[in-house]
Parts: sequence; structure tokens; C-alpha cells
Amino acid sequence: MAAAGLKQVHLAAQLPGVHNVTAWSDPRSESQIAIESFVRLAQTAERGKFDFFFLAEGLRLREHKGLFYDLDIVGRPENLTVLSALAAVTERLGLAATVNATFNEPYEVARRLATLDLLSAGRAAWNVVTSFDSFTGENFRRGGFLAEADRYTRAAEFLATARELWDSWQPDSVPADAATGEFVRPGAGRFAHRGAHFDISGTFTTPRGPQGHPVVIQSGESDQGREFAAAEADVIFSKYNRLDQARAFYADVKGRLARHGRSPEQLKVLPTASVVVADTDAEAAAYAEEITRTLVGPQTAIAHLEAVWGCDLSGYDPDGPLPDIAPRPDSLLLKGHSVFRTGREETVRRWRERAEQGGLSIRELMIEVNGGQTFVGSPRTVADAIDRFVQSEGADGFVLVPHLTPDGLDDVVDRVVPLLQEKGVFRAEYTGSTLRDHLGLDPVGLPYAATEAS
Ligand SMILES: Cc1cc2nc3c(=O)[nH]c(=O)nc-3n(C[C@H](O)[C@H](O)[C@H](O)COP(=O)(O)O)c2cc1C
Repeated sequence: MAAAGLKQVHLAAQLPGVHNVTAWSDPRSESQIAIESFVRLAQTAERGKFDFFFLAEGLRLREHKGLFYDLDIVGRPENLTVLSALAAVTERLGLAATVNATFNEPYEVARRLATLDLLSAGRAAWNVVTSFDSFTGENFRRGGFLAEADRYTRAAEFLATARELWDSWQPDSVPADAATGEFVRPGAGRFAHRGAHFDISGTFTTPRGPQGHPVVIQSGESDQGREFAAAEADVIFSKYNRLDQARAFYADVKGRLARHGRSPEQLKVLPTASVVVADTDAEAAAYAEEITRTLVGPQTAIAHLEAVWGCDLSGYDPDGPLPDIAPRPDSLLLKGHSVFRTGREETVRRWRERAEQGGLSIRELMIEVNGGQTFVGSPRTVADAIDRFVQSEGADGFVLVPHLTPDGLDDVVDRVVPLLQEKGVFRAEYTGSTLRDHLGLDPVGLPYAATEAS
């Protein structure tokens, strides 16, 4: 039962695939792309009563110094296709796809999301990302077509257009009334959108699902990204999973909502997090250390550093001090990754400060900034930490990213979730059927009176 006065925790599971937390060399690690892996992790998440299952997206294999970047070579299947398959083997779990707003077209994306929402009976979500780099754009004959400053202008119009398309079908558009002989109402699906980025009109092929619109997620962290989330999104992801930084992010984005006529509950803040659970805190700490050493090997540490420095650092000793040369913010060695495009001089300054304070080598620093686990400990320790984090306004919950695919969340589901349920901060059963229900959001009604479009 929900405990009075306590916030409820929201949990999602990500199948990481291309991710720097993936311990692919562990003998228990299985395929990142086989259907069995997706099914097993999704069904585990549903057994744990998670809100949703999430897939990130990369539209071009990343390259570092002209070579494929680590795990990218495992490939990345297309999200909406994968999630459609999962709709058939899950019943309540939300299904969240990252789909880029820069290189796609609204009609096609809206149609495919509406289809997932119908197939899953109201469980679809869309992570609207705005990665715009010209390297990725080459795959679409659109390398560099969009200036950085326009990425959210296009995304906002893209989303508005998708909503117009979804709204072109009313809940009662298909009366299928044998008595009157009326199957579909006149005008169903008709739309016209005229704007700076999209100028389209016609009919939309796909009726709306039970939650009205798919849930909208946003994960940009720039000021523009946060503002877009505050105005438009139901969920915002973040990388801030240390409590001090997370609380600042949480307060910032929640504080923006009132300006858009929205209440703080209408935007859920979900940082990504990793969990290492074992019988005791000491065993979990030892296991976390082992994972971290595996994930941030000497070459990986240098590669992380090069991505920020923008130059070849292969001559430096990973167990030695940071390079004494200045970074080259104009040069990009890691292509197809949105994180390293700006702020690199500032990152170098912070890293130098941290390394000097702690007397850290390159690898030790990279472990600290890239390899840390969010929650480490016995099931009790982890459950307490997750609960404390949420109650102290650091987050509304987490997207949990396992180290091992596909069974890396078994311990969380079997040993941590029951303790959260015991505390009354996590559902014991699903109480609704749509993803909007799980997130405590209202279904999206029509923005205009339900009169027939002509
Ligand atoms: C937790 C998190 C997950 C993200 N996942 C993706 C992704 O799967 N694909 C992608 O292209 N960008 C992804 N991004 C990048 C952002 O969504 C965003 O589009 C990009 O950073 C540019 O926006 P910004 O300048 O506001 O940060 C992610 C960002 C965060 C913080």
C-alpha cells in the first residue's frame, strides 16, 4: 500500500546495448541485439512492476580517431520495431523509444508511434532527442543541414505536428454503427500543418490509442532542452545521479513548469542509474570495484580523455598524471556522440582540479568520473538509498541501466523492489493499464471540442 505523505518511486529499465556501463566481456553477458535479450529484460522489468522499458538510439556508428567506438560494433536495431515485438510479450509495461527529431519526418514518426500505442493498448513513449551533428546527418544526406541553435525549434514544431496528427482522430471517430450504417466519421484523420519546418496536409492513417498521445520524454540538458521539457514533456531524463547535482537539476526543471502553466507533478525527473547489489555492503563494494576496473581499462581511460582533450594522447601513461598540454576544443576525435561537443575546456579545468586534490592518475580519475556505480550495497542499503534520493527531491525515480544483458536487473527486481514495496513507496501491483496511468499522468484529451474536422 502507498505510504501516506511519501513520494512514489518510478522505475524504468534500459537495455543499454551501446553504453559505457555494459560489461560485455563478463561470461554472463549475452547478446545486445537478440530478441531473447529484449524479451527477458522487458519481462523482468514487468515482473518488477516497472513503469517502462527504454531504448536509446544512435543513428550512426560512433567513431573515435576514425575507428569504430567500442560497443557500437554490436549494432543497434531500430527501436520502434523492437518495442512492437515487445508489445506482444508484455501486458502492462510502458515501451519507450528514442526517436530523433532532426533527421526524421513527423508524419512517419507519428504514425509509427501511434501504431505502437495501439498495439500496446496505450503503453508507448517517445524520447524526443535533438542530436544534430553533421557526421550522423550524412546517413540521411543531411549532414550539417540544421544549425545547433535550431535543433529545438525544429523539435518543437516536429512534436506539435505529431500532436496535430494524433489529434486528427477523435476517440469516437469510428462508431462502426450497424444501425445507422456509419462506420467512420467524415473527416477522420484529416489534417493540415503549415510551419517553418513542415508544410504538410492530407489524412493521417492511424487512430488514437487509449492514452490519447504517447508519453513524451526529453533528455537534452542545455537551457533550451530544459525549457522544452518544461513546456512539452511528461518525463525528463538526466545524467545527474549524484544527490547534490541531481537536486539542483530537479529544482531547476521543476521550477520552470509554472511559467508554462503546469504543475511540478506533470514532469517526472528520471536520472539514469546503475545498481550493484550483493548479500552484504562489503561484497557489493568489492563487486562494484571489479566491474569498474573492467569497464574502465587502461585504453578506455585514454580514449575517454582523448574525447575531451580533442587530440591523440596514446603516448600518455594511464597510471600517470593528466596530460600537461592544453585541450583542443575545436577538434572532435569522437564522432556521433552529443556529449562532448561543448564545454570541454571547463571539463578539463574541473578534472585537473579533482585529480590534483585526490592525487589521481588518469585511470583513477576516469573511473571516478565515468565508472562509478550509483547505488551499491545490500538490498536494504540500496532500497534505502533509492527511497532517500527520491524523498529528498533528487528525482522522481530512475532509469536503471544494468551492467549485464539481459539478466542484470534480476537482483533489483527480486531483492530491492520488495523492500521498496514494504516501505510503501513502490506499487505492489499495476493499478492502471496505460503508461500515463503508471506515471500518474492524465490521458491526453482533445485540444478542441470533439466536433468533426471537415
Ligand atoms: C540520459 C540521456 C539520454 C540520452 N539519450 C540519447 C539517445 O539515445 N540518442 C540521442 O541521439 N541523444 C540522446 N541524448 C542526447 C539528448 O537527448 C539531446 O538531444 C542532446 O544532448 C542535445 O540537446 P542538449 O543540447 O539540450 O543537451 C541523451 C541525453 C541524456 C542526458
